[in-house]
Amino acid sequence: MLEVHDLHASYGKVEVLRGVSLKVGDGEIVGLLGRNGVGKTTTLKAIMGLVRASAGRATFDGVDLTGLAAHKVPAQGIGYVPQGRGIFPNLTVEENLFLGLRQVPSAKQRALVFDRFPQLKDRMDQKGGTLSGGEQQQLAIARCLVMQPKLIILDEPTEGIMPILIKEIRSEIRKINRAGVSILLVEQNLVTAFKICSSIYLMEKGAIVHRSSAADLKTQPDVVHRYLGMAA
Ligand SMILES: Nc1ncnc2c1ncn2[C@@H]1O[C@H](COP(=O)(O)OP(=O)(O)OP(=O)(O)O)[C@@H](O)[C@H]1O
Ligand SMILES: [Mg+2]
Repeated sequence: MLEVHDLHASYGKVEVLRGVSLKVGDGEIVGLLGRNGVGKTTTLKAIMGLVRASAGRATFDGVDLTGLAAHKVPAQGIGYVPQGRGIFPNLTVEENLFLGLRQVPSAKQRALVFDRFPQLKDRMDQKGGTLSGGEQQQLAIARCLVMQPKLIILDEPTEGIMPILIKEIRSEIRKINRAGVSILLVEQNLVTAFKICSSIYLMEKGAIVHRSSAADLKTQPDVVHRYLGMAA
């Protein structure tokens, strides 16, 4: 469904992506891991059209995303939860949730949110900026679900979230995936990546340096240590 082929991108003269290739198949949860600054977020932004690719391409169900304006990418069926969540602090929860819609949300769209995140229902009039970090993450994911995407791209959903809530977010991602949505996940939390991803790409200096199933990667502590600098 999502195919990224030899993607290059630069900020000014600095080339940050030097040929990233990866695939997310139907129904998969795919992890993209790497140290700080290797280009994970830039990869996601290039897929979403928020950073222009200087070479290579990303296609989704055969459509060339790299040729599309950024505002046309979500309509292809791709939801994006940026690093830091992208909640508008002065808009209410309800406004944040439905801001992607041209019309009043349907009963189905409301149900999509409240079935998955019932706790948001009691906070619809609260300002986004006053939600806790964990609640903001739920809101950001819920905002994607409203658009009924086929793929959701998550950039470090567990960053800054306390361990007990990480488990919850993990289980929410799993449930969303079971309902038929593929996931591309950038994650620093190795436990989360191992628990929910089917395959994992490791990135270094703007390129993919390793790909394997999560199960296989678990048995290669040397690889994990080399590219992530931590113990598997
Ligand atoms: N808007 C920008 N202008 C210039 N350089 C940038 C910009 N955004 C990112 N960079 C640089 O590009 C490189 C890759 O950044 P990116 O955010 O993609 O890394 P990352 O792998 O997501 O890191 P982290 O794990 O810290 O989120 C870094 O060296 C960063 O300083
Ligand atoms: Mg990042």
